[in-house]
Amino acid sequence: MKMSIGIDAIAFAVPRAYVELTELAAARAVPPSKYTNGLGTHQMAIADADEDPVALATNAARRLFVRSGRRPDEIGLCIAGTETAVDHSKPIAAYLHGLLGLPTACRVFETKHACFGGTAGLMAAMDWIASGSARGRSALVLCTDIARYELGSAGEPTQGAGAVAFIVSENPRLIELELGRSGSYARDVHDFWRPLHRKDALVDGHFSVQCYLDALAGAYAEWNAITREDGGPAEPLVRTCYHVPYGKMARKAHRHRKQIDGLTEAEADATFATEVESSLNFSAQIGNVYTGSLYLALASLLHAEAGQLEGQRIGLFSYGSGCAAEFFAGRVCEGAQDMVDQLDLAGPLAARERLTIERYEELRRADAIADRRPVPTPPPPPSAQSLLHAAAYIGVDAEDRRVYTDQA
Ligand code: HMG
Repeated sequence: MKMSIGIDAIAFAVPRAYVELTELAAARAVPPSKYTNGLGTHQMAIADADEDPVALATNAARRLFVRSGRRPDEIGLCIAGTETAVDHSKPIAAYLHGLLGLPTACRVFETKHACFGGTAGLMAAMDWIASGSARGRSALVLCTDIARYELGSAGEPTQGAGAVAFIVSENPRLIELELGRSGSYARDVHDFWRPLHRKDALVDGHFSVQCYLDALAGAYAEWNAITREDGGPAEPLVRTCYHVPYGKMARKAHRHRKQIDGLTEAEADATFATEVESSLNFSAQIGNVYTGSLYLALASLLHAEAGQLEGQRIGLFSYGSGCAAEFFAGRVCEGAQDMVDQLDLAGPLAARERLTIERYEELRRADAIADRRPVPTPPPPPSAQSLLHAAAYIGVDAEDRRVYTDQA
């Protein structure tokens, strides 16, 4: 009998502050409708210097453990997907291992392939469980990033920041994934890149949109072929979550996929409100979170309508520039609504602070040196390590070691 493996629980963390896109539009002398309708973006989360990818991921994982009732000692694999690494050698996953108090008997590593890094982690976790290596333990997958483009560039309104954490296990409570039936696509393209000496990404924007759509077509064709060959389920996908660099991209992706299925443009667009829209609510308030983007869309979908989707099949599409993509599917578990209620998925959006454009620009300038700021003397006293305490990046010590609150 095939094992039931999938996502058992999910949670995310966002920075304390955000920028309102209509205010950014005014500052850049752009009609606000270009951002709100043209791109489908409304707010973007902005990380302060103490909210680095490690701190964001720690906070997402702590929330995940507290809300799901799962414990760090159940974890045997911890993978952090990111394209905002803090070190060439020491992976973000190693910091998380310490900050979360994970067991020493644990495989811990970081994955990178632009926004695809989190999905690479999910697929490795699924295979780890299916192979028997897990021996009853679960995997913790973290996706954590700060999406940045130059101030005033075309990419600026498509920034964001945040981390998504999820547990992959046997007999999941949220979504059972179709093991071994994943359509992959890869091609060496220069659509988006982030050279080692830069924090801001460089992008060939319009080309990146085309690369995304080509990758979707390739991965979807492969997924269809594998599913047919394998005698997989023939039921339709009632919803599909896409990688969401900005809302309009998901709309373009859905139209493209439906046209591949034989629908006209008008017929394809008519399915968008039902099949995709609810998955975009969180990203409209946060922006692009790179590796976590697809999983933020999944969280948004489940938050909006888990109850009515129980037992039904949904599709997932992950895209990472450069490029790598994967199309796969899963079934929302019976009882998922109860789990979603327990997780309080939207909780992190409740108490955020709106930044003025002046303050946002100041933060961005200060961030240029954030990774090298020295730990203040005397360092803040270590707070009691608690699952609920917000982790923060303090600075680097005399040997360039990064220091966090709550570090053992
Ligand atoms: P742009 O060139 O400034 O925008 O940058 P545009 O002129 O193409 O306009 C955008 C849309 O707004 C168009 O609609 C316009 O018609 C419309 P579309 O033709 O696309 O349907 N528009 C208006 N609508 C209403 N009122 C108006 C108005 N004016 C224009 N007044 C671009 C857009 C996306 C290129 C830019 O923001 C960018 O470079 N973003 C970053 C790259 C990106 O997000 N690429 C997405 C695919 S690649 C990806 O997803 C991977 C990624 O997440 C990274 C990773 O994998 O690591 C980025």
